[in-house]
Amino acid sequence: MRTKRKSRQEFKNLLVTGGCGFIGSNFIRYLMANNGFSGRIINVDKLTYAGNPENLEDITRDFPGRYYFEKADICDAAKLTEIFLKYDIDAVCHFAAESHVDRSIKDPGSFIQTNIIGTFNLLETAKARGDKFQLFHHVSTDEVYGSLGAEGLFREDTPYQPNSPYSASKAASDHLVRAYFKTFGLPATISNCSNNYGPYQFPEKLIPLVILNALAGKQLPVYGDGKNIRDWLYVEDHCDAIWTIMTTGNIGETYNVGGNAEIENITIVQMICVILDEISPALNKKPHRELITFIKDRPGHDRRYAIDFGKLHRELGWSPQESFKSGLQRTVNWYLQQKKWVENIKTGAYLSWMKEHYGS
Ligand code: NAD
Ligand code: DAU
Repeated sequence: MRTKRKSRQEFKNLLVTGGCGFIGSNFIRYLMANNGFSGRIINVDKLTYAGNPENLEDITRDFPGRYYFEKADICDAAKLTEIFLKYDIDAVCHFAAESHVDRSIKDPGSFIQTNIIGTFNLLETAKARGDKFQLFHHVSTDEVYGSLGAEGLFREDTPYQPNSPYSASKAASDHLVRAYFKTFGLPATISNCSNNYGPYQFPEKLIPLVILNALAGKQLPVYGDGKNIRDWLYVEDHCDAIWTIMTTGNIGETYNVGGNAEIENITIVQMICVILDEISPALNKKPHRELITFIKDRPGHDRRYAIDFGKLHRELGWSPQESFKSGLQRTVNWYLQQKKWVENIKTGAYLSWMKEHYGS
């Protein structure tokens, strides 16, 4: 167990954007479970295909009076102002984004709107709060640094070189946050994190996609030669890093977050196949690895990401707690156990649920 740090900031009304997505919902659960946060959380989410209120059913039930949901688009500046005033917002943790690289290649427009214009609106609304506002934490990605060769690690001073519309839009949002700190003195921090995995991840991303396809006996698509490398971090460790930065990080600083777990994509796919052969063998008894299919590479596919999180470790004492092997096993178990969640995602039932509850 990590030792508790004394919070430097006491946020009373924390606005979390994108809280119905993968990392946002894990973060809200993390804050409500422990970690010395006793204020209110106001979750602002547009509920795109990636936003699933089912991710927070337990939190909605267990924390009335502390957890609030507002269905809103961060591109709607007037609505943001209304929400900031209604809840007397004093801090923001900003997750909301279009997050999937492949989608940004097919249709970049919504990435520009949400990731850049949406972030701009939030910064303006936070700035308008003046002295009442304590902190804007911006959740960003290691993809802004571009691609590494065989050697080296991304550091906070690595030049930005985004290669996809997704990473370019995130880079733009990082620069806006930095500029609002430098020019207007808006209290802000930024984290740039590597690939997350764990419960509640939408099955368009590599790990949940492979788990669910393998269980369904479908092909396991591997882009190119499968030797691209990502640095994987269990989502709970990311939540802990964000909270560590929000409560003890220096204002105006950027912190890299990573898992010390560089792995080739093909190795991950094979590891998932081995776990499933053991705990959920295919009906035809064939090894799951026979489903692996190499397909056309992603355009502009970054070869290698690897993070130096030394600053976060040295200055704030954070390091990841979960090993990739145990984290992956936990993740596969979670997807096997969450039959209703998986079924609703696959059949789109949660989309009807949203229509019923929110009218659109
Ligand atoms: P996600 O796609 O699972 O969730 C995004 C959430 O944002 C959804 O709930 C969606 O409904 C909401 N949203 C989208 N557009 C919105 C809008 N215009 N207004 C309000 N809400 C909107 O994403 P995720 O994987 O949880 O990522 C969260 C954040 O973390 C993103 O900013 C992403 O860039 C960053 N990040 C992700 C990873 C990763 O591996 N997933 C790694 C590093 C950084
Ligand atoms: O590095 C952080 C980033 O990680 C986040 O900023 C993004 O929001 C998040 O989506 C993730 O981006 P990636 O593109 O790395 O994640 P994805 O799961 O899409 O792909 C992981 C690797 O697996 C990548 O090299 C592409 C490959 N891949 C992916 C899919 C979906 C495949 O080989 N086959 C697939 O079907």
